Amino acid sequence: MTTNESGTHGAILPDVAPEGEDGPIVELRNAGKAYGNIRALHGVSLKVFPSQVTCVLGDNGAGKSTLIKIISGLHQHTEGEFLVDGTPVRFSTPRDALDKGIATVYQDLAVVPLMPVWRNFFLGSEMTKGPWPLRRLDIEKMKQTADQELRNMGIVLDNLEQPIGTLSGGQRQCVAIARAVYFGARVLILDEPTAALGVKQSGVVLKYIAAARDRGLGVIFITHNPHHAYMVGDHFSVLRLGTMELSASRSEVSLEELTNHMAGGAELAALKHELAQVRGVDVEELPEEEDLTAPVASSEGAA
Ligand SMILES: Nc1ncnc2c1ncn2[C@@H]1O[C@H](COP(=O)(O)OP(=O)(O)OP(=O)(O)O)[C@@H](O)[C@H]1O
Ligand SMILES: [Mg+2]
Repeated sequence: MTTNESGTHGAILPDVAPEGEDGPIVELRNAGKAYGNIRALHGVSLKVFPSQVTCVLGDNGAGKSTLIKIISGLHQHTEGEFLVDGTPVRFSTPRDALDKGIATVYQDLAVVPLMPVWRNFFLGSEMTKGPWPLRRLDIEKMKQTADQELRNMGIVLDNLEQPIGTLSGGQRQCVAIARAVYFGARVLILDEPTAALGVKQSGVVLKYIAAARDRGLGVIFITHNPHHAYMVGDHFSVLRLGTMELSASRSEVSLEELTNHMAGGAELAALKHELAQVRGVDVEELPEEEDLTAPVASSEGAA
């Protein structure tokens, strides 16, 4: 799909002192995106620092994918500013983003299922040896390097010859994370990497998200799940209907508050009301409306 957009820069915010020691690698200032007359994203500000996990949460249609499509070069913002290393940018293709060290792991991983793990690791960037015109694939070196890089990240696979399609979803996400680290990503975007995974596999993926962070990458972790986010996140941004409803660092928000923001207390109360009209749903089992709409902060007295 191609889009033909003309950018209009909105108001420029005053410079804010960076929270980390280094400035943000990626920054959105009041950024937005309209698809024709559908406004998918509006007035969103976000900073991604090295060695930090920035979580982007939100319900279906909240604008999460739109946000990462801007950063990964698939779409262009139509309002506000997008900066990399403090310089305004406008990417035309995902290649532009990769050149700046911004790598994206999409949920439907772009792998060739029947190819071995090591081959997928180097897909599109194969190692070669020998002088032209006798240049050929350096298979041994690729196998060794893939093995070493996976081990460096703490990922141990029995056999790198096995087709990547035989790995579990979680293992495939991990290979993709190790690959991005090896190819020098500075920012790693993960679009719902744990969405289709069970508890154990999600834990493994979260572990490698932390490993990527410990190696200095700025990670953007998109998820529906506040529990997953809170396990690894340094900063939390909650999107609702295309605008940023919450932007808070770990010290500013508790898991309970984050969960409440995600659940949308008022919306749940409305849902409960609707469910009450449906036969066979036991709304007695659901929390009371007051509990759903009450501000979380006041739910417990100061200890
Ligand atoms: N290419 C497009 N053309 C028109 N509208 C779009 C396009 N892509 C997204 N939208 C709209 O923009 C809004 C945000 O969509 P987006 O895919 O960013 O949400 P999301 O938070 O990723 O949702 P989900 O959790 O379902 O993946 C939605 O209302 C969607 O219908
Ligand atoms: Mg999405």
